Amino acid sequence: MRKDETLLNPVKPSPYRIIDIIKENNSEWTFRMENDKLIEDGQFMQLSLPRIGEAPISVSGYGEGYCDFTIRNVGKVTKELFNLKKGDTIFMRGAYGKGWPLDRFAKKNMVVVAGGTGVAPVKTLLSKFAKNPDMYKDIYVILGFKDSEAILFKDTLDKWKKSPNFHVIYTLDNEKYSNWETGLVTKFIERIPFEEFEDNYECVVVGPPVMMKFATMKLNELNVPDEKIWVSYERNMSCGIGKCGHCRIDSTYVCIDGPVFNFAKAKHLSD
Ligand SMILES: Cc1cc2nc3c(=O)[nH]c(=O)nc-3n(C[C@H](O)[C@H](O)[C@H](O)COP(=O)(O)OP(=O)(O)OC[C@H]3O[C@@H](n4cnc5c(N)ncnc54)[C@H](O)[C@@H]3O)c2cc1C
Ligand code: FES
Repeated sequence: MRKDETLLNPVKPSPYRIIDIIKENNSEWTFRMENDKLIEDGQFMQLSLPRIGEAPISVSGYGEGYCDFTIRNVGKVTKELFNLKKGDTIFMRGAYGKGWPLDRFAKKNMVVVAGGTGVAPVKTLLSKFAKNPDMYKDIYVILGFKDSEAILFKDTLDKWKKSPNFHVIYTLDNEKYSNWETGLVTKFIERIPFEEFEDNYECVVVGPPVMMKFATMKLNELNVPDEKIWVSYERNMSCGIGKCGHCRIDSTYVCIDGPVFNFAKAKHLSD
């Protein structure tokens, strides 16, 4: 983190260069950026372009000197980002927010259900599980995409499939595709052997609001208590540091109290 600038103005963005652009599909690209900021799994940064605007985007990967953002081209800022090329500059500030509670996940069976662009906020988490098989028990992963054109992180998905304690189900909403299932992610949640976990598990659910609603309902139906479910929420944001109230729902600030929430709290957050 560039401490001097952050102390003077905590919302001042700094310019970083694009190292690479990976075109995952037509509307979702991963921007690999130079980075010197500290990142926790599940956090987001505010990306901006002068005279255009700013958008909060989850960190989908990081390593020595770089971090990744997997961005869907949906509006004003993201459209302009899609006009950039390797070597161009994006302004960044962050990383912000509470990420995944890794201490609580240690030594547990993990169930991760994610859909579409929602796979981005769980990618660093799943990579951590894959790299540290001794620190976790079995990892059950259900990932869904609309169709084969919408698949993200193809190579990484293949690696996870081969990871020692991973049990993966990859599915497309309504397309048949080799070695993939067909159907919504909710259809496959009942394949998770919760009764074998002896209560030693936690669940992570991230995706479009409708998918999160039905996936959490299904988990509850299978007697998974809210306290064992973790979600990541997207809300309109501005400052990202708990000052402007833009992301506030009741007394909760999604930017600093989230974006990762325990579902026992998250289910009571409504606009
Ligand atoms: C914590 C957090 C993490 C996030 N992580 C990611 C991530 O990893 N990847 C990612 O792609 N996104 C992510 N988002 C979502 C992203 O920040 C939003 O999609 C953001 O609004 C994009 O900015 P924009 O200026 O391009 O879009 P905007 O111009 O703000 O448009 C946003 C939405 O409004 C709609 N819209 C725009 N103009 C109109 C109009 N005239 N009429 C009707 N509808 C309109 C668009 O279709 C779009 O759905 C995250 C959000 C949060 C809060
Ligand atoms: S975005 Fe300003 S308080 Fe959360």
